Amino acid sequence: MRQVLKVSVLCVMVVFLITAFSLIGCKTAVPETTAVPETTAAPETTAAAETTAAPETTAAPETTAALSGKLEVFSWWTHGGEVDALNSLFEIYKKRFPNVEIINATVAGGAGFNAKAVLVTRMQGGDPPESFQVHAGQELIGTWVGTGLIEPVDFIFEKNNWLDVYPADIIDIISQDGKIWSVPVNIHRSNVMWYNKEVFESNSLQVPKTFDEFFAVAEKLKALGITPITLGDKEIWTATHLFEDVLLGVLGAEGYRGLFDGSVKWNSPEAIKAIETFVKVLGVANKDHSALLWDEAADLVIDGSAATTIMGDWAEGYMKSKGWVPGVDFGWAPSPGTEGSFMMLSDSFSLPTGIKNRDAAIGWLEVVGSKEGQDAFNPIKGSIPPRTDCDVSLYDPYLQSSIKDYATNKLTPSIKHGAAVSEPWAVEIDNVMTMLVSDKNVEAAAAKFQSAADEFIK
Ligand code: GAL
Repeated sequence: MRQVLKVSVLCVMVVFLITAFSLIGCKTAVPETTAVPETTAAPETTAAAETTAAPETTAAPETTAALSGKLEVFSWWTHGGEVDALNSLFEIYKKRFPNVEIINATVAGGAGFNAKAVLVTRMQGGDPPESFQVHAGQELIGTWVGTGLIEPVDFIFEKNNWLDVYPADIIDIISQDGKIWSVPVNIHRSNVMWYNKEVFESNSLQVPKTFDEFFAVAEKLKALGITPITLGDKEIWTATHLFEDVLLGVLGAEGYRGLFDGSVKWNSPEAIKAIETFVKVLGVANKDHSALLWDEAADLVIDGSAATTIMGDWAEGYMKSKGWVPGVDFGWAPSPGTEGSFMMLSDSFSLPTGIKNRDAAIGWLEVVGSKEGQDAFNPIKGSIPPRTDCDVSLYDPYLQSSIKDYATNKLTPSIKHGAAVSEPWAVEIDNVMTMLVSDKNVEAAAAKFQSAADEFIK
């Protein structure tokens, strides 16, 4: 019954989101674009500054005391680790702009599960926050750019010489039509298997690298009365999250990438094998998975009743916020079959048009993109800085390993976290996932995933 309700609520959400997103894609529905005041454009010397790589000034811009009014920042960061990380940015902002009142507009629900719908309503209704969290990649480019509801931020990059410190691959996924559209604050990794070290060590178990090893270890864990893997898909996005990592583990980086350009079909034999593997993983997961959230799934690993959970590295931030120490209490490994691949996503912040306090918003984006901001935020969040000049010594052993892997692994874009697909496509994938988790019908899911791909791959 609960599952039926869940499906119908989701269907309503999907219709709403698809309608809302198609509306924002329609130019006529867009509120009038506020022209960008010329005076705030980047100083004319920026092109020269780019080549001389002038160091970024960490001192507050001269006008800070003069800046007042409100700054509303919209995000879905409400869990342990996330909250503290966001607050660290607010602290820096308050020092730079003491007379601006910050409004922390959060909507709970992981991966923006609820926030994205609220955001669309607000943006549609002409009530934009000064800045909103948006994933770099297709969530930004395929969803918001072109609506007239956000403006490019090249002038901020130029003024701060950020083109010298942001890597080209990150600039690439936030750019469209030769313009940059948001300021990334981090890089998260989706394909991480977090494990309870004590559980593995005291039972002399090896951390699995492949799915064969995973299912073999799962049998041993089950015999010991320990749940092999936890999931908390009360919000369906976590199942999609797990699924993207299984897809990567079974298809490999090239095969996985092919799902988004049409060269690999979602109903091909390899993709069907991945869907079957996903269903098999569900079979060894906690029975109450549909009643839990992602952090509650992590709690089962922390209390030792479960051995592993596959989640993005915000789970690292969460476990640390619970007093767990990386490398001591918990370990990490690429999710099965994904060694050498880094499923990436990046949280960034936008500059909406028609906002009440544009200068305060620009100040916010300057904090988000600063070395100071990123070195305060990322060690707490469980993410790594996109900037290449950050202070690696501030990052814990897991994050240092992630910095290394990001530089050397094959990068693949996350489905669930906005890098690979636009929001309407992601919503359809979640919808298929809701059915798959409930009816385990692999063939039906494969067909539906493929029709979604047919709809969105142009
Ligand atoms: C992701 C987001 C992360 C984290 C996570 C859980 O989509 O990129 O920063 O917040 O959701 O809510």
